Amino acid sequence: MRVREMEISDISDAVKIEKASFEEPWDSDVFYRQLLNRGRRRLLVAENNCRVVGHLAAWLKASTVNVTTLAVEPTARRQGAATALVQKLIAEQRGLREKIKLQVRVSNRAARTLYKKLGFEEQGTQENYYVDNGETALVMSRPLGRREVASAADTGRTSKAVR
Ligand SMILES: CC(C)(COP(=O)(O)OP(=O)(O)OC[C@H]1O[C@@H](n2cnc3c(N)ncnc32)[C@H](O)[C@@H]1OP(=O)(O)O)[C@@H](O)C(=O)NCCC(=O)NCCS
Repeated sequence: MRVREMEISDISDAVKIEKASFEEPWDSDVFYRQLLNRGRRRLLVAENNCRVVGHLAAWLKASTVNVTTLAVEPTARRQGAATALVQKLIAEQRGLREKIKLQVRVSNRAARTLYKKLGFEEQGTQENYYVDNGETALVMSRPLGRREVASAADTGRTSKAVR
């Protein structure tokens, strides 16, 4: 399993994986816009035998990294792709920011188990978070080693979370 930066040429694969993974998949415009904003976004793909099998996107804020999507192609699941993607993000951001954070549907046992295994802890819930069915989001985070510094850039904003 190899993890590398997402390129424009990966967008069609990422969109296919989104469609196979979510009720409300990101479309190519979303990926394209994020790739044009590389200073604030981090997009990674996992490759197995030169085939893109998964992707992760994150929003880089001043003190927090917010994972905004993570998906693996259904036939490639349980082979460590998501673990490799999250571990790569953690390794890159260690010491640069205070924590890595995400929201996950309370019903998404697979993802919750994955995140727990990777050291994320439950921080609380956000009721009525998902617009499609009003489901509650579980907020999970993991420290990245940087000391906490109050930052205006991290307050008063909302982000589209992983689904
Ligand atoms: C959740 C998801 C990203 C996991 O991807 P993956 O590449 O299969 O995950 P990994 O192979 O790295 O799994 C690591 C560990 O997570 C846990 N896990 C992963 N999928 C699981 C499942 N279906 N059921 C229970 N535990 C699971 C296991 O502990 C697994 O380790 P193991 O295989 O040794 O038992 C993938 O199932 C997916 O794309 N789901 C649909 C989209 C989604 O829910 N994204 C997350 C949004 S928050």
